[in-house]
Amino acid sequence: MVEQNLPLVILTHSLPAEWLAKLEGKCRMVVGPWDATHFDPALEPYLAEAEGLFCLLTIPVKDDLLRRAPRLRVVSNMAVGYDNIDVAACTARRIPVGNTPGVLTAATADLTMALLLAAARQIPQASRDAREGRWITWSPAGWLGADLEGATLGIVGMGKIGRAVAQRAKGFGMKFLYTDIPLPPEVEAELGATRVELPELLRQSDFVTLHVPLTPETRGMIGEEQLRLMKPHAILVNTARGPVVQMDALLKALQENWIGGAALDVTDPEPLPPDHPLYDQPNCLIVPHIGSATRNTRRRMAELACENLLAGLEGRRLPHCVNPEVYERV
Ligand code: DGY
Repeated sequence: MVEQNLPLVILTHSLPAEWLAKLEGKCRMVVGPWDATHFDPALEPYLAEAEGLFCLLTIPVKDDLLRRAPRLRVVSNMAVGYDNIDVAACTARRIPVGNTPGVLTAATADLTMALLLAAARQIPQASRDAREGRWITWSPAGWLGADLEGATLGIVGMGKIGRAVAQRAKGFGMKFLYTDIPLPPEVEAELGATRVELPELLRQSDFVTLHVPLTPETRGMIGEEQLRLMKPHAILVNTARGPVVQMDALLKALQENWIGGAALDVTDPEPLPPDHPLYDQPNCLIVPHIGSATRNTRRRMAELACENLLAGLEGRRLPHCVNPEVYERV
């Protein structure tokens, strides 16, 4: 039996019950559909009473929603990125916002390497050709791809995920350039990574991979000017956020062969409509934002989001809080 005096929590999406085990007996839950692309209107009546919000990165949590939820004491995003949330508006209401860093680093770095390898070796095209009868013989000059060994990988954003990519790519014999705040010298030395400015990284890299959060500064940071700096054979990989890349400029770059290819886990918009011209580009590989999509990772993300949520409901500091200033005394 659900106790009526337990705090009410809105989960914008339904999730596997075992991922939410930590919440059992701690709150009452109202749950949106698993495939919600926006805040489900059926949840609207609960906003007035809700003390906790557990949301996914597809749900905008902006001032208008917060205004309709006057009792909200915690927003817990099941993602490391939180560009869907107006953090300043939450802070103004002294609502802590939680995210899920760390647990998805390995899975996202793995997918980055998978995309990089698939694009470098033209795996989608080769697989399609085999299935569709274009595998006539062992073809000495067919399906030629790029070598990773000795190639330069430009890592834009050297946070946890950028570094995990570097560790993996090191095993393939790649060299690194990176942009970000400088790494400690011993980490730079261990990775063999050199810090440069973005234009230099773009000019010198054979592969460029993006690992920056989406902020006003990074929105659109890869546009025509930047794509024109890249080598004609270079491959751009994006497992960060779609709007970091200007999609129209990318389309033009691929159509006019300014760059060799792109591999995208994230797009702008998401989902990318099935008739989008980028799907017609043979040198563009697109997957549906699956960077963190491993069984363990997604379960851990949900568990961490539950821990943040419970801490907020119980008036404790969130284990992973993106606006710790809410805890400062006024
Ligand atoms: C995140 O957590 O921000 C990722 O994009 C989910 O895969």
